[in-house]
Amino acid sequence: MSSFTLTRTLPADVGDDALRADVTKGLGGGPKHLPPKWLYDARGSEIFEEITRLPEYYPTRAEREILLDRASDIAAATGARTLVELGSGSSEKTRHLIDALAGLRTYVAVDVSPSALEQAGRELLVDHPGLDVHALVADFQHGLQLPSAPGPRLVAFLGSTIGNLLPAERAEFLSGVAGLLSPGDAFLLGTDLVKGERELVAAYDDAAGVTAEFNKNVLSVLNRELNADFDPAAFDHVAVWDAEREWIEMRLRAREELTAKIPSLGLAVHFAAGEYIRTEISAKFRQEGIRAELAAAGLELRHWWTDRAGRFAVSLAVRS
Ligand code: AVJ
Repeated sequence: MSSFTLTRTLPADVGDDALRADVTKGLGGGPKHLPPKWLYDARGSEIFEEITRLPEYYPTRAEREILLDRASDIAAATGARTLVELGSGSSEKTRHLIDALAGLRTYVAVDVSPSALEQAGRELLVDHPGLDVHALVADFQHGLQLPSAPGPRLVAFLGSTIGNLLPAERAEFLSGVAGLLSPGDAFLLGTDLVKGERELVAAYDDAAGVTAEFNKNVLSVLNRELNADFDPAAFDHVAVWDAEREWIEMRLRAREELTAKIPSLGLAVHFAAGEYIRTEISAKFRQEGIRAELAAAGLELRHWWTDRAGRFAVSLAVRS
């Protein structure tokens, strides 16, 4: 008795206004920056899937290893009847979890991309015909409301997507998650860990240039959606490790002085030679930092699992 429901909490055109606001704010003055979510149009999501298969990009494989090895521990520790996945994307890694959670009745996938949700939801039902699948088009950063679903509930945020948030945004996000949990519910968090600079930079600046293409794709998004005239070839892809803040910063750096026009916003964006747009941060974590950030949000770290090489961690927390 399977079911599939798609619910939108975001109006279909919310993206247009949000993109305009983000571009006006991020390119209209001061240090140039764009929120990473605009990297993920259909083409960007496709390139990201390609990134996950690169020899240099270890996080996806490391997290998959943990979920495979620990799926039964997670099932035993949570007894979850509902799995809520935030930023579910293709739901690929979650399958191992869904397979292991014997008592699972309901899967709620939350993502900003309706197309990813449709596809992932329907594919899941093929292997799990008894599962109730709710696909929720929503932005996990803004006031989540979940459909009523049987407890205990497990809320999962995988892929180290939390690393794309700035520290203050992370605090707000984690408090929001704590607010979703009832006693007996749990939170599963995937985080990439601090490691040597060479390995980190290689993961974000691969030899085949796939990450460079991914980064430059955001300029195509601006050209298409806002009628801008960015020339992707005029920019270099740069990945730098900020050792103090312990995050990778992805940038698009102008090779020469140039001006890009965004007529629909009445903007002319000037770049000095070497000036850059920060397009993403990808923070890396340590166990003590995670424990402290969870605690500050009212969550208590209960389990900490890493892959055998110690590159990535999956944490399980409950309301404290
Ligand atoms: C999907 C956000 C976790 O930060 O590692 C991959 C995105 N950016 N290569 C990450 C990404 C460049 C990725 N996340």
